[in-house]
Amino acid sequence: MKKIVRPINYDWYVKVFDEKDLEVIDLKSFKKVNIPNQPFEFSENQLKLSEFHQKYTYVYHLENLDYKKGVDVYLRFEGVAIESDIYVNNQHAGQHLSGYTPQRILITPYLNKDKDNEIKVIVSGIERPNIPPFGAIVDYLGYVGIYREVYLEVVDTYEISHVYAYSENPLINDHLNIEVMTSKARGKLTVSVGDIEKTVEVSETNTFIELDIKDKVLWDLNHPHLYDIDVKYEVYDKTYDQRQVRFGFRDIKFKADGFYLNGELIKLSGLNRHQSYPYVGYAMPKGAQYEDVDILKDFLGVDIVRSSHYPCSTHFLDRCDEKGLLVLEEIPGWQYIGNDLFKEISYISLKNMIIRDRNHPSVCMWGVRINESPDDQEFYLNTNKIAHHLDPIRPTGGIRNLTQSEFLEDVYTYNDFSHVGNNSGLLPKKEVTKQSHPYLVTEYNGHMFPTKSFDTEERRVEHALRHLRVIHDMRNPNNGIAGAIGWSMFDYHTHPSFGSGDLICYHGVLDINRMPKYAAYSYRSQQDVEPVMEILSSMDIGDYPGGYLKQIVVFTNLDYIRLYKNGIYINTFYPNKKDYPHLKHPPIIITDFIGESLAKQEHMKKKDAEIVKAIFREITVKGNKISLKYKLQLVRLLKKYKLSMKQGIALYYKYMTGWGADAPIYLFEGFENNFIKLSKKITHDEEFNCLVESNRLVMYHRDTYDSLRFAIKLTNGSDNLYAYVRDILKIKIEGPIELIGPKERVFEAGQLAVWIKSIGVGKAKITFSVRDQKVIKEVEIV
Ligand code: GAL
Repeated sequence: MKKIVRPINYDWYVKVFDEKDLEVIDLKSFKKVNIPNQPFEFSENQLKLSEFHQKYTYVYHLENLDYKKGVDVYLRFEGVAIESDIYVNNQHAGQHLSGYTPQRILITPYLNKDKDNEIKVIVSGIERPNIPPFGAIVDYLGYVGIYREVYLEVVDTYEISHVYAYSENPLINDHLNIEVMTSKARGKLTVSVGDIEKTVEVSETNTFIELDIKDKVLWDLNHPHLYDIDVKYEVYDKTYDQRQVRFGFRDIKFKADGFYLNGELIKLSGLNRHQSYPYVGYAMPKGAQYEDVDILKDFLGVDIVRSSHYPCSTHFLDRCDEKGLLVLEEIPGWQYIGNDLFKEISYISLKNMIIRDRNHPSVCMWGVRINESPDDQEFYLNTNKIAHHLDPIRPTGGIRNLTQSEFLEDVYTYNDFSHVGNNSGLLPKKEVTKQSHPYLVTEYNGHMFPTKSFDTEERRVEHALRHLRVIHDMRNPNNGIAGAIGWSMFDYHTHPSFGSGDLICYHGVLDINRMPKYAAYSYRSQQDVEPVMEILSSMDIGDYPGGYLKQIVVFTNLDYIRLYKNGIYINTFYPNKKDYPHLKHPPIIITDFIGESLAKQEHMKKKDAEIVKAIFREITVKGNKISLKYKLQLVRLLKKYKLSMKQGIALYYKYMTGWGADAPIYLFEGFENNFIKLSKKITHDEEFNCLVESNRLVMYHRDTYDSLRFAIKLTNGSDNLYAYVRDILKIKIEGPIELIGPKERVFEAGQLAVWIKSIGVGKAKITFSVRDQKVIKEVEIV
């Protein structure tokens, strides 16, 4: 019989655990749910941790499995947080002590004959000290629940346990090596890639097969070319198992001078990502995992993501393979190394992670240390050994917050939080490790400058500039730094001792809903696929002390911008190459909003207008204590243009602050090759728009349910965000979908995102209402 893999994600039941559940289940007190599941929906912030730190009982009704004698039946759990005990017909079938790696449990001995079966999973969200990542208080939550898919597997004696595909030297030869592990040393294996095929006899449980893929295409960040490898396992001419794995040929090397992909030295700019979401924690299906990758690659334009601080979903990795996004994947943990059990679980997690993920071309490094833990020679010699044994191709790293610590890995990986705004972005390599070591920065910024999307503009701009300064320093071609991975992609839930007291760490360049803060554009402006011109200001003077907007920052990948105020040309501004020589696209810093308008509107001579501007700037800083030189100039110019002191003061307010003047209209035109590529108006009008976007309008209700995210913005007629509007968004759904989160949400900095999930197939309608706006989206679920 051919192996059967059946997803069993629909129609589970869950409730808070009770000792009696171990004996009798009364489904009346349970809630029907689908997997991935977080047993209760929680609020966006200020969550109640006690609800997580307890046990839950999950129940699944499995029909009578009428298979012939000799078959093995397994349950495979892709991810259950944090610990789980599995019972089949009230008999204990297995236990899993890691919330982040898969577990397969043999259930054949406990199955009923000729009767249905009851699967019970007691899931604990209690943070036990010797179950990684727990021990110390951790800066993230582990949540609770069966949060990744579950499968039933039926195996008739012969199965493919693992397939490991690798190419040792893809720049030199076309060899594709495939190691296939089978449950028995018998039969034959046929491996094919397109129309290239090879069949070999199986004489051991590990079979090595080599194929030559002539004229192969390499996988890289711009062209992530993938190959499907099909493996068939036959015994006595009957097919027992078939597997498909995806593979990409690419050569990865971290050297003392940096990172090489397919022989080319490139700098890696990236972000750390937790796998959490609002309202449901970790419990999000493929669609949401895919979209996070798309945001990283297509919107933020980064090259690498670190799955901090645990193995991520395989859906996430699949998408990274498809999109060309590198991944540093690491074992669960945070600053604390526990007892022997803790270490044992760490070894098992490491093995499971590598065996599960070593075919993904996107994975470029295994993180084999507990994040930011102290040196522990024996422990880390072992983790390195395990990683190298299971995957001789990929380098290891071990993320630490210690400089010059014991270096047992292939790459020295360090969290550099040295940037405080007025110093260089990163420490020189020699202060961290030896020049001869390959070196990658794995975190920066984060807690050094937490910033909410609804913080003041000044703070949000500084947050963005801090990210940009680090990226700039990282990009110095001669610093021996392979790249830098910022903290973090989005805001995330945490324990009370971190974050802003509402159990959120506002460390993201996106907010928790994946909506951008200004810092998102520190990354986005450095890519070349799409034109960007993001003005880091609403141009509202009332947000600044004394009503004085000293400078504005524009993040752009265009050549230059022209600025107009109220229809009058102010000036042309260029990227600041002087202060940011290593950036491909330095920011444009604008400090002059008067430009030629004094000359044009007040009919001043150009030279006089420049002096007036200088005087005005000095007044802004020193008030009426300006230098004698400027005082004399002022008297002369007032006289020359026949202006009273009062009229002079009025000019100052008109041009310097705009205080009391009509709302200005700023027009920014961004040029590429001397053609206008983008233009943006910043002004006030009375239009009130609610814009709703999603990356698709089809959902796939398949192995499990699908999710879909709507990104929502409130804007005026010129697409300027209403960043301080505190209106309520009402969401109404019709059709086979459910809403993730409440029906009414408050806008955060003029933005929001809403996720829905499928509960069946058909057509669904979602109505978003705010003020007089109603936006209807129709979705097809197939
Ligand atoms: C690091 C840690 C991260 C996060 C970050 C905040 O030390 O590794 O998990 O807490 O600080 O900046």
